[in-house]
Amino acid sequence: MIDLLNMQKQFISSHLSEGDTAVDFTMGNGYDTVFLSRSVGKEGRVTAFDIQPSALLSASKNLRSCGCPENWRLVCASHERAPEFVRDKIKAGMFNLGYLPGSGNKSVTTSRVTTLAAVKNAIEMLDEDAVLTTAVYPGHPEGRAEGELLTNFLASLSRFRYSVSEIRMANSPDSPFFFAIETPKKK
Ligand SMILES: C[S@@+](CC[C@H](N)C(=O)[O-])C[C@H]1O[C@@H](n2cnc3c(N)ncnc32)[C@H](O)[C@@H]1O
Repeated sequence: MIDLLNMQKQFISSHLSEGDTAVDFTMGNGYDTVFLSRSVGKEGRVTAFDIQPSALLSASKNLRSCGCPENWRLVCASHERAPEFVRDKIKAGMFNLGYLPGSGNKSVTTSRVTTLAAVKNAIEMLDEDAVLTTAVYPGHPEGRAEGELLTNFLASLSRFRYSVSEIRMANSPDSPFFFAIETPKKK
């Protein structure tokens, strides 16, 4: 069976090329940062955000042990502040909501107010022919609330400016799902 969350990477790969700028809005252990870093290569740029210093430590170890090019920058700041740190338009952005996997600390999780503000800012940062993916974990109360808030907000976006897809299992409402927000190529 197809791993649903892995499908996010297919959306990303169809927009992201070597030399591009990308953002990981929820760095965690850096697996998505590694994927973005490899995708844009040594001429590209990746900035990743997390509010937990332990995530920066874990992600930098991961990036180095994977032999990623030196194209990444890890920022200890909340993701809605991304426009202060990344001035260029981005070709891809990823949100993987929830708590830091493997930390044993489930008290620090993404939360609906900052998530919504961060997603709104991230959409404004998108270049033409770009994509933003947002993975939601509705199996816990805050994750469910984030999902509902994002569903309502994303449904309000103009279909002439954005294509918004929602990819989820129809027979498992508590399983993780994701949104992909794509911008068109200018003619
Ligand atoms: C599910 S994990 C991300 C997994 C990660 N993408 C990876 O590949 O390992 C979610 C992360 O979001 C972080 N986070 C929570 N609130 C945040 C915020 N306001 N800004 C940035 N990161 C935040 C958490 O600390 C946690 O590390």
